[in-house]
Amino acid sequence: MRILVVGTGYVGLVVGACLAETGNAVVCADVDVPKIDDLQHNVLPIYEPGLEELVRRNQEQRRLRFSSDVASAAEEAEVIFLAVGTPPGEDGSADLRHVLAAAETVGRHLRNEAVIITKSTVPVGTAHKVAAVLGRHARVPFHVCSNPEFLKEGAAVEDFMRPDRVVLGAETDYARSVLAELYAPFVRTGKPILFMDIASAELTKYAANAMLATRISFMNELAMLCEQVGANVDSVRRGIGTDARIGPSFLFPGPGYGGSCFPKDVRALLCTAGLHGVPLGVVRAVHEANERQKHLLFDRLLDALDGDVRGARVAVWGLAFKPQTDDLRESPALALIGALLDAGASVTAHDPVAMAPARQLFGDHVTFAATSYDAADGADALAVVTDWNEYRHPDFVRLRDLLARPIVVDGRNLYQPAKMASLGFRYHSIGRPNGMTA
Ligand SMILES: NC(=O)c1ccc[n+]([C@@H]2O[C@H](COP(=O)([O-])OP(=O)(O)OC[C@H]3O[C@@H](n4cnc5c(N)ncnc54)[C@H](O)[C@@H]3O)[C@@H](O)[C@H]2O)c1
Repeated sequence: MRILVVGTGYVGLVVGACLAETGNAVVCADVDVPKIDDLQHNVLPIYEPGLEELVRRNQEQRRLRFSSDVASAAEEAEVIFLAVGTPPGEDGSADLRHVLAAAETVGRHLRNEAVIITKSTVPVGTAHKVAAVLGRHARVPFHVCSNPEFLKEGAAVEDFMRPDRVVLGAETDYARSVLAELYAPFVRTGKPILFMDIASAELTKYAANAMLATRISFMNELAMLCEQVGANVDSVRRGIGTDARIGPSFLFPGPGYGGSCFPKDVRALLCTAGLHGVPLGVVRAVHEANERQKHLLFDRLLDALDGDVRGARVAVWGLAFKPQTDDLRESPALALIGALLDAGASVTAHDPVAMAPARQLFGDHVTFAATSYDAADGADALAVVTDWNEYRHPDFVRLRDLLARPIVVDGRNLYQPAKMASLGFRYHSIGRPNGMTA
């Protein structure tokens, strides 16, 4: 099939590369000209395991092309994915400016009957808005569909190639048959394609993210209770996660959820609910719990440094919102670093892949270290924010000797409290006894 993917961010690039990999002729188009120039030379704007190889191979085989000319690309296409950003507006609702602008360009230049799919995460009702924009400009039949994307950054290629399910909101037979054919190679192991009405597909994406965020906020709150009652959240997590009705995923307490999706989508869902007069009290509580949790690491550091961080130097391990990505959007590390700098501390940070985008954000206000040990060297405390594998088993003796004060605030519960205490660390994690005897 001749496919156009509009927007070459984390989602568009993965979608385009994976659809090319299954033999389609794909154009990935974006208004960001330097980004397209780089992609034409196989220089990726993001870190995503396996993606560079996929892009290179499919460009070489001429199944994948990059263009900054969305209009010309629309003229050729039979299937068009809108995968542009939907950042939060001032009130937290999804800003649809990019989606509707892309729809207008596409509408003006359609030459073939086309299936037009919102891949971006968009509130219920957006497909109708997209159809209205297209309808004002298009001179050929088109079929608007919703196909929310569930890939996880850090495992995006794998997730797209082998999805748990494909959710398709489509309301014409033509659209259903095109989409079923397009997705057939990705569901050969029997994973379902779930056809549904468009509103349900649009809402499914928000429901999924809100549910996952709920599990995280729930465990974050329980971790606080564990600390007060002398329980260990690791044990409680295992105790509930082995219940088949609950399952083990997304039950790890931490410094608050971040990333480009959960915070934005939870707020956007609350806006949609508000517009329809439905009080989603659970979802609101999830958001509020996360806002509180974002202060936790700073507060722990403040306590550990005797109530004053002014003049202290704090090492931060991990900047990305989770491992295997360089995405900093709403990363808990940003909140922590911002609070430390505001309070007069200095920060030396390390991350295996996210230091370049962090440098653009913080400039000279943060020092970036070549290795995790360099970051810790001479620091008054270490905060572990992202659970990259390389932070899981450091040389503890070396780490202790490098730190000016052996204080570790662990936002991911990576280390054993008793072991850390026996090595002479003052160790603080989340929801667990700190291993130190009074
Ligand atoms: N990142 C994720 O993990 C993820 C997962 C599932 C769904 N989503 C959703 O997918 C959408 C895209 O997310 P992302 O993380 O890929 O965003 P992104 O910000 O990384 O990329 C968006 C791209 O769209 C381009 N763009 C904006 N307006 C355009 C236009 N009119 N024409 C052409 N290109 C245009 C931008 O230049 C940018 O390159 C969002 O709605 C997001 O919520 C993201």
